[in-house]
Amino acid sequence: MYQVIVSQKEAVTSRVSRLTLSPKDGQALPAWSPGAHIDVFLPDGMIRQYSLCGALDAQHYQIAVQWEEQGKGGSRYIHQTLQPGAELTISEPRNHFPLTEDNSPCLFLAAGIGITPFIPMVEACLSSNRPFKLSYAIAKASDNLLSEHYTSLANVQVHDKATQGARLDISAVLAAATANSDIFVCGPNGFINDVLSLAAQQGVDPARLHREFFTAEPIDHSDDGSFEVEIASTGQIVSVGKDESMLEALEDNGFFVPVSCEEGVCGTCITPLLSGEADHKDVFLTDKEKAQMDRVAVCCSRAKSPRLILDL
Ligand code: FES
Repeated sequence: MYQVIVSQKEAVTSRVSRLTLSPKDGQALPAWSPGAHIDVFLPDGMIRQYSLCGALDAQHYQIAVQWEEQGKGGSRYIHQTLQPGAELTISEPRNHFPLTEDNSPCLFLAAGIGITPFIPMVEACLSSNRPFKLSYAIAKASDNLLSEHYTSLANVQVHDKATQGARLDISAVLAAATANSDIFVCGPNGFINDVLSLAAQQGVDPARLHREFFTAEPIDHSDDGSFEVEIASTGQIVSVGKDESMLEALEDNGFFVPVSCEEGVCGTCITPLLSGEADHKDVFLTDKEKAQMDRVAVCCSRAKSPRLILDL
């Protein structure tokens, strides 16, 4: 954990504030890579994940926070209460959405606040001469988070739905990608799911598709049943009732699993699965990873088999 000071808070648009987080007491902040996010610990136990969107070599971090009218309070606190000079606790950066390491072309598809992880990715491409294209869908011109530094680039397309009268043509954007392009998508769940399904229809290799969800899909718990978890290291059996999560049952029995979002988005609680069939309910693992049945998000997923054996 790191203690930081909110050294700057600025409105980038009417709905998005950018925070600059500087180390407290001269403590150095860890290095990070494009696509990384941090957990921000807010009052009342709220933990929120935000992509880092500033310069890679800076001595401070920058995050952009969108006002969410229907949110659970995190964005309201940051927008209405948090002021410059306040102290915050943050996690070290984690990266579940990294740039691939070869020099293949990158196609970035962003919608709304989902542009944030792409800002350092674009910078990385520019500094390494890696070919890329960015398509950025926004509802109206005043939502644009990109500075002219980016929008003036020929390979950056900002699609403003209000002015252009239609949604971004995702199919056309995907169709224009070269066969060896790595495709990265971030934005609202509907946008990500559209990109993933259209890419599948176009035969895009799933290994070349990379996505980061910001929020969970509503999870249907109507068919939840009870099951057992076996702790591989001790053989202990933990019963998971139909009205509790695997995480709660594990914690009640003294097993610690690190968690953050607790809704299947961030991947922090992913635990190796040695045996059994999980009922995956997270949006973190890809379909291919879920089919491998070798790990499970214990915060939200359940079991289709009577017992799961976890490598704990
Ligand atoms: Fe985030 Fe489980 S804690 S996916």
